[in-house]
Amino acid sequence: MENGTNKITPWEVSGRVDYDKLIKQFGTQKVTESIRNDISSYANGRMHVMLRRNIFFSHRDLDLILRDYREGIGFFLYTGRAPSLGMHIGHLVPFLFTKWLQDIFDVDVYIEITDDEKFMRNPDYTLEKTGEWSRQNILDIIAVGFNPEKTFIFQDSEYIRNMYPLAIKVAKKLNFSEVKATFGFDNSSNIGMIFYPALQIVPTMFEKRRCLIPAAIDQDPYWRLQRDIAESLGFYKASQIHGKFLPPLTSPDGKMSSSVPDSAIYLSDGPKIVEKKIMKYAFSGGQATSELQRKHGANLDVDVPYQWLYYLFEEDDGEIERIREEYSSGRMLTGEIKKILAEKLNIMLQDHRAARERAEDVYNKFKYDGNLARKMWEKIHS
Ligand code: TYM
Repeated sequence: MENGTNKITPWEVSGRVDYDKLIKQFGTQKVTESIRNDISSYANGRMHVMLRRNIFFSHRDLDLILRDYREGIGFFLYTGRAPSLGMHIGHLVPFLFTKWLQDIFDVDVYIEITDDEKFMRNPDYTLEKTGEWSRQNILDIIAVGFNPEKTFIFQDSEYIRNMYPLAIKVAKKLNFSEVKATFGFDNSSNIGMIFYPALQIVPTMFEKRRCLIPAAIDQDPYWRLQRDIAESLGFYKASQIHGKFLPPLTSPDGKMSSSVPDSAIYLSDGPKIVEKKIMKYAFSGGQATSELQRKHGANLDVDVPYQWLYYLFEEDDGEIERIREEYSSGRMLTGEIKKILAEKLNIMLQDHRAARERAEDVYNKFKYDGNLARKMWEKIHS
């Protein structure tokens, strides 16, 4: 969908994104102070940094999710990943937030790994490759710290047998012109991709309760289709909480992309690489020389290091305010803010990699023999 001078589809985001306009275009609702406080009341007054700073900014039916929770009906969480060679830090964002929600509400989480989507979308990828990337990406996702008793990670090409009965019910409700208009397919699109939306919709129907989907807003087209048909199949319209994009390192516009390595920090990047990428490539809103910076200060609206710190990496509100003040007034130089970001990122990545090593031990539990995997199997085959 065009959004002023930019484009947002599940596969491409370009230009500066006008998030307020997206709320109108997509017909979603703002995450209001009252919703934030409501969520926080279940978290002993705490509020995730990405909620506090309006990074998760838009929703559908989140009020109904909270109502169902309050009334003891409950809900479940669903999110996903199209596997690629190495996840970048932007891909981790929805998982970090989903884990926080799971901790608070103690609910089931379903994570779809769409090796089929990745394979069909890219002429060069083999199923062997997307299968190997699935395993690698799943380890990164497990490392986020989901509750193994209540989390099920499934890979489409393996789990399809169990998804297929629902997938064909969904597919029968969607006609080509709707799907074509939603995703911009044309006569050269392969028929796998035309069917694929059914497979991303199916997990919203894994339980007969409301489903809440945390994801960036690029995934919204699927949910609009889901909401058109869910009730006719006896399920709830899926509810969403939409995130903004972590911008690429190299520009305040668009979203970080795996295909442009300099624009992304990968979860596997070591401390030296992180520092080098940030120092060399991070787009700066600071002035060209230190003299000019001291005189005029930085333009924070385009400064990527500041935006990254604000988005997630400097959680302390007092500290982010100090950085804002000093950097915009010119007391802080570009090299200094970049150094702060590199240090923060490296601490996070170090912790992540340690957790990832431990993830090997529980891989099967999340994917095949955990409680939730068993519960699903019994439900489908009963
Ligand atoms: P994928 O693999 O492109 O992206 C995985 C998740 O990361 C979000 N995301 C970002 N969030 C913040 N900043 C960024 N720069 C950024 N880039 C990507 C995406 O919105 C997504 O939540 N088709 C999906 C896989 C999928 C899925 C789902 C995603 C299947 N079922 C349910 C979300 C919810 C995909 O290609 O995601």
